[in-house]
Amino acid sequence: METDAPVPVQKDTLIIFDTTLRDGEQSPGATLNMDEKLEIARQLSRLGVDVCEAGFPIASPGDFEAVRRIAEEVGPLTEGRKSGQPMTIAGLARAREQDIKRAYEAVKAAPRHRIHTFLATSDIHLKHKLKIDREECIEQVVAAVSYAKTLCDDIEFSPEDAGRSDPEFLTVVLGEAIKAGATTLNIPDTVGYTTPEEFGWLIGYLIKNTPGAEKAIWSTHCHNDLGLATSNTLAGVANGARQVEVTINGIGERAGNTSLEEVVMAIATRPQQFPVTTNIDTTQITRASRMVSAYTGIPIQPNKAIVGANAFAHEAGIHQDGMLKHHSTYEIMRPETVGLAASSLVLGKHSGRHAFKVRLEELGYGDLSQEELNQAFDRFKRIADKKKVVTDADLEAIITDEIYQPPEFWKLQYVHVTCGDHTRSTATISLIDPNGAELEDAAIGTGPVDAVYKAINRIVGEPNTLTEFVVKAVTEGIDSLGEVTIRIQPHNGGASSRTNPQTGAERTRTFSGHGASTDIVVASARAYMSALNKMLAAREEQSAVIGQASR
Ligand code: KIV
Ligand code: ZN
Repeated sequence: METDAPVPVQKDTLIIFDTTLRDGEQSPGATLNMDEKLEIARQLSRLGVDVCEAGFPIASPGDFEAVRRIAEEVGPLTEGRKSGQPMTIAGLARAREQDIKRAYEAVKAAPRHRIHTFLATSDIHLKHKLKIDREECIEQVVAAVSYAKTLCDDIEFSPEDAGRSDPEFLTVVLGEAIKAGATTLNIPDTVGYTTPEEFGWLIGYLIKNTPGAEKAIWSTHCHNDLGLATSNTLAGVANGARQVEVTINGIGERAGNTSLEEVVMAIATRPQQFPVTTNIDTTQITRASRMVSAYTGIPIQPNKAIVGANAFAHEAGIHQDGMLKHHSTYEIMRPETVGLAASSLVLGKHSGRHAFKVRLEELGYGDLSQEELNQAFDRFKRIADKKKVVTDADLEAIITDEIYQPPEFWKLQYVHVTCGDHTRSTATISLIDPNGAELEDAAIGTGPVDAVYKAINRIVGEPNTLTEFVVKAVTEGIDSLGEVTIRIQPHNGGASSRTNPQTGAERTRTFSGHGASTDIVVASARAYMSALNKMLAAREEQSAVIGQASR
């Protein structure tokens, strides 16, 4: 089969609604702090996302403040955006006045803002969760959308669990929502239950049978419980949806949401198969993916489509042979299309600042500040002293370790361990405290990492449970950098809980940390410091927000 030729026909624009900062952040352990949310929102803007769902403002004062700052600081940006239009900032609200008001207060500073309200419509949810009947459901939807409409024009309504709702009942609810002022109707397959045929059919059926359907934009919101989220979303587009709700790397509750990069690249790679185009600058995908992974602490599986480490790797000899003859033999997308530049330089200990900067620019890190660049370059030099060749993967790890880090309350000064099979593992640690004083302590552990963590705990005194510890090699070879990702759950203090918008459950926050080094014990210490600093930053952020609110 020949590959698709360019199609000159006029196509609809597919609105890309990113919910990484809301549904994505609902994934267990994906807690992000204010600066990280702002940084991700800026990257989503550079990426060309049309609508950014920045959070669920009523969840906590911190969530409200993050959405408000994104609306104020990122909402107006247009630089580098293909559409030339600012990104719409949306806030989620249950179908209740307090939620809707809070969402509006949070998003209103953005030149383009949206209230996204939702109520479940499946009999399962009505009976067991909401304990209301269909009539009451319609009344609540009308009341919520009508109230939202008094505050702003751009209103999205979602019938939660639409995938398991009665389609005929949906046409009634959605028709009433349109009458009350909804401008976007989003159809969630909340539990990832449907198949592509069913979901595509549902979108087509609703557009055909809902009174006033032509006045609204129809949207998909698919979860990936059966691994069908991308297929279901694309089936929705084929049947008339003109907005898709997606997250970077497909992060989200349980098995996640539809991943932005898969949908966007399917449309970009197979234009003849889809009646739409997007405003996405695909060269920003890799950067967005790595940023989200670093900040959430959620690793990307190596074989993940588009953004996995192996997505463009050609291992098998027969494939490599074909690739050398012509890349199109085994490659359907060029790596540079998603922001992975082919390496023209090999960096090592003799490489200078200029070569380093050029390579970072090629990898999509062209906008680091001078200070960040200096910091990363110093680290590169230290690593290049130990490793003959510093690969792109090493550079990514350096950036992740040096730049994508929380504010440093406590700073790791040095780590010293002794360990082995005939000795007790001991660690001596030196830290700089938040006032600049150097503190040292030592501890014994079951292994070197345990000893290091115990020594750090003796100094910092922030009781917590380590819930996850993952170590992986950045590249092949014995001299590889080791990358450690951990998660901790505080016993008190730093763990503000927040409400899950759908289940109503209170969730205790966990904090991730990451570190990289040629020595995995040092990488583990750096990861632990990163998680502790994130926890302390969250506590500080929370008291600042509460202080502000009570003034
Ligand atoms: O999955 C879902 O139903 C949601 C709604 C709040 C849109 O995330
Ligand atoms: Zn969802």
